[in-house]
Amino acid sequence: MCGIVGIIQQTESKIGNEIIEALTKLEYRGYDSVGVASVANGELIIVKDEGKIAEVLEKIDLDSIKGRVAIGHTRWATHGPPSKENAHPHVDCKKQISVIHNGIIENFQQLKNELLEQGHVFQSETDTEVLPHLIEQFLEEEKVSLEEAIIKTVERIEGTYGICVISTLEPDKIFCAKKDSPLVIGINDNRMFCASDIPAFLSYTQEVVLLHDDEFVTISKDNYEIIDLKTGETITRKPYTVSWKPEMAQKAGFPHFMLKEIHEQPNTLADYIRIEQPSILKIAEKIYEAEKVFLLAAGTAHYSTLTGQNLIRRFVKKPCSSVIASEYELIKNLIDEKTVIVPVSQSGETMDTIMAIKNARELGATILSAVNIVGSTVTRHSDEVLYLYAGPEIGVAATKTYTAQTLAMWDIGLELGKISGELDNDEYEMYRTNFKNIPSIVKQTIVHNEARANHIASWFAKKNSSFYLARSLNLQTAREGALKMKEIAYIHSEAYPAGESKHGPIALVEEDYPVVFVTPQDQTRKLIVGNIMEMKARGATAIAVLEEGDKEMEELVKWKFEIPKGYSEMFSTIPYVVPLQLLAYYTAVRRGYSPDQPRNLSKSVTVL
Ligand code: BG6
Repeated sequence: MCGIVGIIQQTESKIGNEIIEALTKLEYRGYDSVGVASVANGELIIVKDEGKIAEVLEKIDLDSIKGRVAIGHTRWATHGPPSKENAHPHVDCKKQISVIHNGIIENFQQLKNELLEQGHVFQSETDTEVLPHLIEQFLEEEKVSLEEAIIKTVERIEGTYGICVISTLEPDKIFCAKKDSPLVIGINDNRMFCASDIPAFLSYTQEVVLLHDDEFVTISKDNYEIIDLKTGETITRKPYTVSWKPEMAQKAGFPHFMLKEIHEQPNTLADYIRIEQPSILKIAEKIYEAEKVFLLAAGTAHYSTLTGQNLIRRFVKKPCSSVIASEYELIKNLIDEKTVIVPVSQSGETMDTIMAIKNARELGATILSAVNIVGSTVTRHSDEVLYLYAGPEIGVAATKTYTAQTLAMWDIGLELGKISGELDNDEYEMYRTNFKNIPSIVKQTIVHNEARANHIASWFAKKNSSFYLARSLNLQTAREGALKMKEIAYIHSEAYPAGESKHGPIALVEEDYPVVFVTPQDQTRKLIVGNIMEMKARGATAIAVLEEGDKEMEELVKWKFEIPKGYSEMFSTIPYVVPLQLLAYYTAVRRGYSPDQPRNLSKSVTVL
């Protein structure tokens, strides 16, 4: 997820400040590198470097950028680590065309190979760089206009994109195209804007035109023309006045980044599924061949590894343990060259995880990691990396990166099931079909349960402690749900194996004590009914995350969260956590706390 912005002004004059101001409002969309391109005196000017805006401004003088038209980009690395070469904008061989892009070009390698054969020279590892070279190729080969060359280029893309193009060939225009990644236009008397998000230009104008998928727009200094790429027809779309305050706009209208990120999950999970990662096969093979497998992580990431642990045990029948990274000492003497370590980390910078990996490597282990941030420290100590593609997570409490981590564990598990033969072809295909449906299940789960979570939160907010109980595979969901409630609502919430809760913890239960149960219709169902009865007999108020239509369970509990049918056993650790994310969020809000910056916590603990 990157921040892109373009500006056209009336005269060829200084434009760097305005571009930087706009990019600063988008930095929450990515902050690995920054770049600006403009057209001045018939020349393309490109300035870019690795680092956040403030860091890059120290290295290069962006303010001196002149031109009537300019584009800017703040990057969230997906293809190619953060670096100056990989920073956008990217240009063609003749440096006449400059492109910035937000999204994922799935077929970029095929396009790149074609262009390399045609003699194009590439400077970066990014997927985006194929765009200016493809435009250049169409211009040369088919003698078409720049607009037609860009449209032909966009038609070759498989994947998602929000792109802006400027060129010395048309020095007072910006060409944009959109599919799945956001792109909006801002209009005021002196300037025209295009950007991935409204905050970029909200301080200049509230007159906004939203672009829809498969639309192409040509922006000039006082006009914009939208074409439907499917029909070729020109579309008339009037601007509307946006009412957001600037700070709300960065959160796309959500009151907090955490709620925005909970709602982003259908898209981020779809992004993960959309990208073919060859490393997945190598990771599965190396786990299959290993003698010992340990998954290493901290916090929320540790709970996602429990899915990995259970699936490796199930699909490869191999001893495998999830180990909390700071407890690595407990397994250190088991590590050798036949050991595989699977670190899972959103930031890739958690010191507990890094220190464990470094030692394991010294002892000969193979490191196969699942990480969100491209080029982070964990990835640099890994033999193979599986990226989460969840985009920047600004809320300190993990949400979308947890479900992305858990999805990655399932991705590995399914490949293991195929390699080991535990899954025959039909079973594998059935799982893969359901795997691809997870984003829509999560979307339905959010729609069905958000209001309910807010309602239950009004009661939960008055409590000081709670239990989250589950069995078997669902225990990690209970653990993550309880951690969320601790992290942001500051309510002591303990996740416990439901079967074990009668051996001690039940002593804490008193009248109206909150007990949350995670109860898909799987093999644990019969047993957990008994646990619910035990807790209710002591006065507990039971809440269940259950499968839609599970009447027996509904009648047992005071409140329910409903998960769409058919996903009880399969992948339940993904949709079943979403209502618990929402419950924690709304409880924190009702208690008057800021879910985005919970006290005492940090997004990534880079100290031991
Ligand atoms: C904690 C974060 O500090 O670190 C958690 O608050 C996170 O959200 C944990 O799960 C591990 O971080 P990472 O980046 O290694 O996944």
